Formats: sequence, C-alpha cells, structure tokens
Amino acid sequence: MVKICCLGAGYVGGPTMAVIAFKCPNVEVVVVDISVARIAAWNSDQLPIYEPGLDDVVKQCRGKTLFFSTDIEKHVSEADIIFVSVNTPTKTRGLGAGKAADLTYWESAARMIADVAKSDKIVVEKSTVPVKTAEAIEKILTHNSKGINFQILSNPEFLAEGTAIQDLFNPDRVLIGGRETPEGQKAVQALKDVYATWVPEDRIITTNLWSAELSKLAANAFLAQRISSMNAMSALCEATGANVSEVAYAVGKDTRIGPKFLNASVGFGGSCFQKDILNLVYICECNGLPEVAHYWKQVIKINDYQKSRFVNRVVSSMFNTVSGKKIAVLGFAFKKDTGDTRETAAIDVCKGLLGDKAKISIYDPQVTEDQIQRDLSMNKFDWDHPIHLQPMSPSAVKQVTVTWDAYEAAKGAHGVCILTEWDEFKQLDYKKIYDNMQKPAFLFDGRNVVDPVKLREIGFIVYSIGKPLDAWLKDMPAMI
Ligand code: NAD
Ligand code: UDX
Repeated sequence: MVKICCLGAGYVGGPTMAVIAFKCPNVEVVVVDISVARIAAWNSDQLPIYEPGLDDVVKQCRGKTLFFSTDIEKHVSEADIIFVSVNTPTKTRGLGAGKAADLTYWESAARMIADVAKSDKIVVEKSTVPVKTAEAIEKILTHNSKGINFQILSNPEFLAEGTAIQDLFNPDRVLIGGRETPEGQKAVQALKDVYATWVPEDRIITTNLWSAELSKLAANAFLAQRISSMNAMSALCEATGANVSEVAYAVGKDTRIGPKFLNASVGFGGSCFQKDILNLVYICECNGLPEVAHYWKQVIKINDYQKSRFVNRVVSSMFNTVSGKKIAVLGFAFKKDTGDTRETAAIDVCKGLLGDKAKISIYDPQVTEDQIQRDLSMNKFDWDHPIHLQPMSPSAVKQVTVTWDAYEAAKGAHGVCILTEWDEFKQLDYKKIYDNMQKPAFLFDGRNVVDPVKLREIGFIVYSIGKPLDAWLKDMPAMI
C-alpha cells in the first residue's frame, strides 16, 4: 500500500487528498497540519471549509483510507510520497515585500521532512511557488539528508473553489514536473500511477520542473487577464452605451477566444490571482525583465481600478456622500458556492464605503460575522498566514452589522450593493426590498445577477457593471 502524507489541511490539501483517498483504495492518505483546530474540524461533522460534494467524499473514506492528524513527524517519516500544500503568502516585510512569495512555511516544512525522514521520499510541491523553488527545496533536503534520497516533483493544483470536487474528479489536466534523470522519471511515474487510477492518461502532462512551476503562475495570470480585459471594457461600455454582456458574448463566440471567464465583475478576488501575479511580476523584475513585469502588473491595476470605480459610482450616485447612510451588502465571499473571503472584492468595496462613513449591513449565506469583522480589520496580506497565527479577536468595525437575512440587511437602506453572484440573489423579492428602503432606492449590481429593466420598473435606480446607464447616473458623473 502506497503511503501518502500531505502537509497542510487547507482548501487545496483537504479536498485534493480526500479525492485521492476516494479514488485510490490501495493508497493510505494522512493529511497533517500545525493547526490543531483545523484538524479537529476535519475530524468532525462540521468540516473547516464549505465545498459542494466535499462532505460526501470525506464521509465515505475518513477512517478507512483517509486520516487527519496533528502528529506531523510520525506520518511524514512513514510516508512514501509527501505532498506539501502549505501557505505561500505574499511577503509583508523585507526584500520583495508586497510582491514576492513568502516561503517561510515551505522552508520549515522542508527542514522538518529532512529531519524526520528515515527512508527515501518523493516530495511533491502542491503549493503554488515561484519558478525554481524546487532547486532551493532540493538543496535544503540534500544538505540535511543523512544519506536519504529525495526526489522533488512539481504538481501544481488547478482546482477552483466552489467546484473543487468536480475539478478534481474530472481535471482538464494534471501536471507533473520532475528531474530529467532516471530517478526523477521514476518518481514522476510513481505519482502518475496515483492519478492514472481515475484521470485519463492523455490528461496527465509531464514536463521538466521549471515548466511545471511556471505553468501554474502563467495559467492564473492568463485567467485573471481575461477578467481584467473584460472589466476594462466594462468601463468603456458604460461611457459609450455598449452592453458588456453583449460584447463578451460576441467576442467569446470566436473559437480562438472561447466563451468562458469573460464575465465583467466588481473585480476578481480569491487567494490565488493577485498573489500569483504579484509573484510573477517579482520574478520578472528579478530576471531583468521590467517590460514583462509591467505588462502583468496592469492586470492587478485594472482590478484595483474596477473596485474603486464601483465605490466611486455608489458614492457619486448618492449625491456624492454616503456618510451616515445605510448600505446593504449582499454577498461577501469572493465568488458563489464558497465561504472563502480571501482577497474578496467585498473587503475593498466595504472599506471604501466605510472611508466615506457609510453604515454597512452585510448578508452572505456562507460567511460568519466573525470572519467579516476579522477581514475588515486585518492588514493587507495578513490573511494568508496559518489560521492560528492570524489575529484572534480583532476590534469590531462599529459601522458594520452582519445579518443572516437579505431582507433584514436591506431594511431601511439607502442603497443595496450585490458583490457575490449567489444564485439566491436572483430569486429575491425585490419589490419587498424596495418597499422597505429609503427613497430614492439605489441598487448597484457588481455581478450582473439582476435584470436592470425589471428593477427599474419597480422603481430602483440601477447600476449594473458595464451596462447602459440610467439617466440618473448619467446626470451624476462619477470620478471614475
Ligand atoms: P490554506 O491556508 O487553506 O491551507 C494551508 C494550510 O497549511 C493551513 O491550514 C496551515 O495551517 C498549514 N501549514 C502551514 N505550515 C505548515 C507546516 N509547516 N506543516 C503543516 N501544515 C502547515 O491554503 P490553500 O488555499 O490550501 O493553499 C495552499 C497552497 O495551494 C498555496 O500555495 C496556494 O497558492 C495554492 N493553491 C490554492 C488554491 C485555492 O483555490 N485555494 C488553488 C491552487 C493552488
Ligand atoms: C483560481 C483558478 O481558476 C484555479 O484554476 C486556481 O487553481 C486557483 O485560482 P479560484 O480563485 O478558486 O480559482 O476561483 P475562480 O473561479 O478562478 O474565480 C476567481 C475570481 O474571479 C472570483 O472572484 C470570481 O468571481 C472572478 N471571476 C471569475 C470574474 O470576475 N469573472 C469571470 O468571468 C470569472
């Protein structure tokens, strides 16, 4: 029986290992973490992350081929294959602060592996890391190895949150990079054999280490670039009377471009896109490629522009001030079907509105009040450190209330902002919401989930990203 240990029981480590255990009955998988609370949650009925389909998969194999433990050293020393899926946040201090990846957690994991290993190991980079990280990890392992042979593989993860189980069951591709030596290729084959249990052979791509590491950063940069391109177009649509949904449809019909990932929005969020592009920018700068760095940096700049453009639109529409006004925020997660709020556009939008002294009432079906208060009082990039290292009881932001009911959030509000595309927001009774709001009642749709024509019939003044503007909004030019 092949023994796998995964360091890091997070959004990637947890679901990925659960699916490996589910699909490979001849493999024993133990997921370990330095966070005692997170492991306890994985062993309970209330898993630490919300992901459609995850509960079922975990329930079916937990205690049989899938285990969660804090006994890191024991399971690392017993494993044949060790996945490392720990945080690789953006550095907040020192050289490369605000751009470079902080490899503190990765390095400490590698040193621990070298320390406790008593037999040969395959060490797999699952975390997203800067290109050439495998070389650094190899050095740490071999210089501390006591004669043990370590093979390093790069096997970046491409799952998206909200569809993680689906993505893992049926991946577009699995990418494995390894050394081009006989030992390196043997390790690649061993990992390939695990995935080949359920992934068709032609979807398992093998490359050298650096191509695998760089492909992950490149894929995220390309995906984010499509959104920023469409978001840039959305500003032009608003200025000209074009409709961004129609433009996206027409553009996406070109089979060379394709229809996916062209939805204009209030801005992309999530733990990956911004972090990985900043990392890419830093790597380009370090390699003396300022023009390439500048090119990719624009993807982030347009994303920041889109978020502040949205805030400016809200404030300028409401007579240039939201001071003391109640603004309801529907949706706080960075996308639907997840409770994850890392780098969600909602944080920047809420902070922007709070800066103008608004009172905010937030409803999200999956995000708790604790999490929202923590997010709104945390410094940039602090979120991406292991949970037990994050501030435990941040001071609550007094102008913010959180409810478990959309109608309650909107009651007495001057404006409603839709910031996550939860399906339930399409079904709300907007007449009821309108009747209980201050007048004129504004609705700012940052996800294009509602039909502006129907809402205007009810009486709302509606702003939808990239759609033709109401006469009211045209008369209130925003500083955008
Ligand atoms: P996460 O914060 O949810 O999980 C990381 C876990 O690692 C935490 O629970 C932390 O306590 C643990 N950890 C840190 N140091 C450790 C150590 N030395 N030993 C054991 N555990 C340790 O992060 P995540 O979202 O799962 O991301 C992990 C990596 O995967 C990152 O590099 C990320 O960029 C990458 N990634 C994330 C996604 C995603 O959608 N979230 C997708 C693809 C790749
Ligand atoms: C992303 C990548 O898709 C995934 O392959 C990688 O492994 C991790 O990073 P994730 O961040 O979980 O996944 O979600 P994703 O679906 O990519 O959405 C990211 C952000 O972009 C969300 O805020 C989403 O709302 C936004 N988005 C997505 C848009 O604004 N428009 C779109 O058309 C698509």
